[in-house]
Amino acid sequence: MGNKLVQNDVLLEGLNWRYATKAYDPTKKVSDEDWATIEAALTLAPSSFGIQPYKFFVITDPETRENLKAAAYGQSPISDASHIVAFAYKKTLTDGDIEHFVDRIAEVRGVSKDTLADYGNVMKGSAKRAVDGGYIETWNSRQAYIPLGFLLQTAALLGIDATPMEGFDAGKVNEVLGLTDYSVVVLAAVGYRDAENDWLAALPKVREPIENIIVRV
Ligand SMILES: Cc1cc2nc3c(=O)[nH]c(=O)nc-3n(C[C@H](O)[C@H](O)[C@H](O)COP(=O)(O)O)c2cc1C
Repeated sequence: MGNKLVQNDVLLEGLNWRYATKAYDPTKKVSDEDWATIEAALTLAPSSFGIQPYKFFVITDPETRENLKAAAYGQSPISDASHIVAFAYKKTLTDGDIEHFVDRIAEVRGVSKDTLADYGNVMKGSAKRAVDGGYIETWNSRQAYIPLGFLLQTAALLGIDATPMEGFDAGKVNEVLGLTDYSVVVLAAVGYRDAENDWLAALPKVREPIENIIVRV
């Protein structure tokens, strides 16, 4: 058996407790320790080959938050949550990016770059096919949703609220954050719910019955 760290009921309690929080208590901030754990979870998400073709912009500056809120149709979590994370994918993947990744493997695992040459070429081939085939942005942007999932689950298990958000004008958010080589694909607000002022806080979660969603083959 594996290394079971969480009891089933505890895990499901956390996932049922979380919801896409609409109103945050602006006076409650995520502690440094909890925030460091959330950042670590973001970086521990898997990605294709492990290339991590994204960056996470952690936004706490109030003025930047106001500008982001305007680009996100005035959604209040943007200004009221403790932290905002913008998930931005890399718009291309170059040989240089792959070489950087190969250097990093060599450094972390203490192996020579020569032993990684074939693997590097496989990755360069995949990247080139994606660039030439016009799907590099699709590929890279999909990767960014995996850390989003890690964030949502990690926050839930720490008793921290979070809201995934696609409701924004990406061009405007990129402008606010000064992004050129990266493009924002999704935002997450993270903080503590203001349950009294959140219309969604007390409503039951709506999901399809499990048998409509899980197909057992
Ligand atoms: C990719 C994505 C984008 C979303 N965009 C928004 C958004 O812009 N604003 C918002 O209030 N909720 C947003 N949601 C929240 C969903 O409406 C919510 O997760 C869904 O209805 C399920 O409910 P629950 O998260 O409360 O369980 C988004 C969720 C996802 C996964």
